Amino acid sequence: MAGLSQEPDIDSRIISNQDNNWQLNHGPFDDINALCIGAWSLLVQSVDHYIPEADALMRAFDFIPHWRMDDLMVSYSNKGAGVGPHLDQYDVFIIQGKGTRRWQVGLPAEFTHVRPHRDLSQITEFEPVIDQVLHSGDIIYIPANHPHNGVALDACLNYSVGFRAPTQQELLSSFADFALDKNLFQKRFTDEKIASRDFSGEVKIDEVSRFKNLLQQVLEKEHFSNWTAQFLSQSATHQGDDEQELEQFSIQEINQLIDDNTGFVRSLGIKPVFVEPQSTVREEFYFYIQGDEFSAPITSKQVVVDFLNQPVFNIYETIPEKHRVFFVQLLARLVNAGYRYPEY
Ligand code: SIN
Ligand code: CO
Repeated sequence: MAGLSQEPDIDSRIISNQDNNWQLNHGPFDDINALCIGAWSLLVQSVDHYIPEADALMRAFDFIPHWRMDDLMVSYSNKGAGVGPHLDQYDVFIIQGKGTRRWQVGLPAEFTHVRPHRDLSQITEFEPVIDQVLHSGDIIYIPANHPHNGVALDACLNYSVGFRAPTQQELLSSFADFALDKNLFQKRFTDEKIASRDFSGEVKIDEVSRFKNLLQQVLEKEHFSNWTAQFLSQSATHQGDDEQELEQFSIQEINQLIDDNTGFVRSLGIKPVFVEPQSTVREEFYFYIQGDEFSAPITSKQVVVDFLNQPVFNIYETIPEKHRVFFVQLLARLVNAGYRYPEY
């Protein structure tokens, strides 16, 4: 975890409390020891994208749809540490790894909010309805907006499976980006008749409704479901590894690897998302990984979905002859985007 917290692409924090003086520092950290004072916790986001066991742990929650889950946050706390009583906007499963931790959880109510540090939001107190010591392997579920406080009774590792809960503002902003990217929704307002009015500055209620209707039409289009899948395929907390130079493969090189019987391994944390196809009218099946769009002929949908579910993929064992040419192309795109890699 200390290693991960040195990486610039990885979101990490150290929260410490010494003599009731709370400090919060954001990574990347050069000298982690300087910040680990008093009772302290190191918290690292999106660990499922970097550590195979963390990816596997998150996949143990596959009974919940991928789109509803966000990332696996891991925290290490020394004895007595915690982040203080607080509320979260997200539902979360917290798994107790190493050590023991006392968890108190209350019911939603009005609370007094305090900021002992500008980036640390806490509440002063709450009435617990759950007060339990968690041991290795125990899990506690904390719904959004339920006050909670976890205090490490000894050195602790905690794994938090966070749920995705976007706001209307985030939805709107992402949908607008999608529309601009794809140059969609060019229909313009028109009116055949225009009502007279006493003040030319006035906008009639009926006109407001027609603008609303113009916008509502946007949401009825098929694009809306594709945008939904694209939006939900992007982890809110994982920033991606843009700077990383990915080795690029030509179709011939991918074919050569296939001939050499090379398996193609799914990259960590990768969870493709697609919308349940609604009718046979559509000819393309779209799926999304980290916001990137991929498509396949609708007739290959089942083989594509089976392929996406496989941690290691071997084309000869899986793909019927008639789908192979298309599959090699899809595989090359996925490998070149960093979502699969050849197992040498
Ligand atoms: C932690 O894992 O240290 C804190 C998690 C939380 O209370 O949200
Ligand atoms: Co919390």
